[in-house]
Amino acid sequence: MSTLKFAVLPGDGIGPEVMEVALNVLSTIAAKENMQLDYKTADVGGIAIDNHGSALPDSTLEVCKTADAILFGSVGGPKWENLPPKEQPERAALLPLRKAFSLFANIRPGLLYAELAEASPLKTERIPNGIDIVCIRELTGGIYFGQPKETKDLEGDDILAIDTMIYKKSEIERIADVAIATAKSRGKRLCSVDKANVLETSVLWRQTVTERVAAKAPELELTHMYVDNAAMQLARDPNQFDVLFTENMFGDILSDEMAVICGSLGMLASASLGAGKNSLGKPFGLYEPAGGTAPDIAGKILANPCAQVLSAALMLRYSFGLEEAATAIEKAVETAVKGGTRTSDIAFGSEVASTKDMELAILASL
Ligand code: IPM
Ligand code: MN
Repeated sequence: MSTLKFAVLPGDGIGPEVMEVALNVLSTIAAKENMQLDYKTADVGGIAIDNHGSALPDSTLEVCKTADAILFGSVGGPKWENLPPKEQPERAALLPLRKAFSLFANIRPGLLYAELAEASPLKTERIPNGIDIVCIRELTGGIYFGQPKETKDLEGDDILAIDTMIYKKSEIERIADVAIATAKSRGKRLCSVDKANVLETSVLWRQTVTERVAAKAPELELTHMYVDNAAMQLARDPNQFDVLFTENMFGDILSDEMAVICGSLGMLASASLGAGKNSLGKPFGLYEPAGGTAPDIAGKILANPCAQVLSAALMLRYSFGLEEAATAIEKAVETAVKGGTRTSDIAFGSEVASTKDMELAILASL
């Protein structure tokens, strides 16, 4: 019997409620496939600040280090909003986790079922078949982590702040390989986004991606787009893309734009894959919903658990190599939602389901 060893970090707000659903779905699939779950839960984010004085305590890092993957909820909330930016749960938990496990490859599917197209600001008229694209974002380089990064006082009462955007060719190559593999497994179209008309890092990015695709996957259709144009194109006609691929900060902005175009944050999952391999020889990864902690509905059992469940499916796919089980979960979510079970974010006028109703519908279709 195979064992799935992972860390569970539910976090704040709706995190624990939707995590419970994901764990119940995982238990069900494990029982069916004769697998065993071996997970340890640990505090992260605001609750970790309250309980341990740090958004990412050493004890939580230890739990993650002994696991093959991390299933993450969401962090932050009004209670911690007045902390200095560096200490806020989102930044103080996520950025060090990305660094600690070299989580360089962020994969965010932008998936919207045709049945839910009205939830998108583009409405059914513009996207009659829904949306099916994916965004690959570099996650441990660029301006987020480049040094120097500092603020200093200047003579004459002025102040200087610096962030540094840095990319090494090797960093671009390894994320290009993830983008190439993703495009190969889908529609074979890769659009690399940069700002090569202005930035040195983008000139290197464009050149490296071009070389890499020519050497490794000449069958792919590779295009390049400036980031300002990509932002416009995404809002105009998202399905013109298949795999959208970019560096850290452009990816932060574009993937969130993609998320809002896809209607509800409650439906979107993400994977952040590490450079290292886990004990199974698969990529170590962190899996989290695209949405936040939704403080307004936290504790009311109203949140849409689909994004958390779909994140668990991505964990099975990438960190455990269980493609069939991952697809089974994705299909079960699809069947539940298409069958009419709708939490408030995707209900538009129809009867509103609770988190629990959604769980039962997913389990029933499994
Ligand atoms: C995200 C978030 C993070 C980022 C923040 C919270 C540090 O916006 O995962 O997209 O900017 O990467
Ligand atoms: Mn973001």
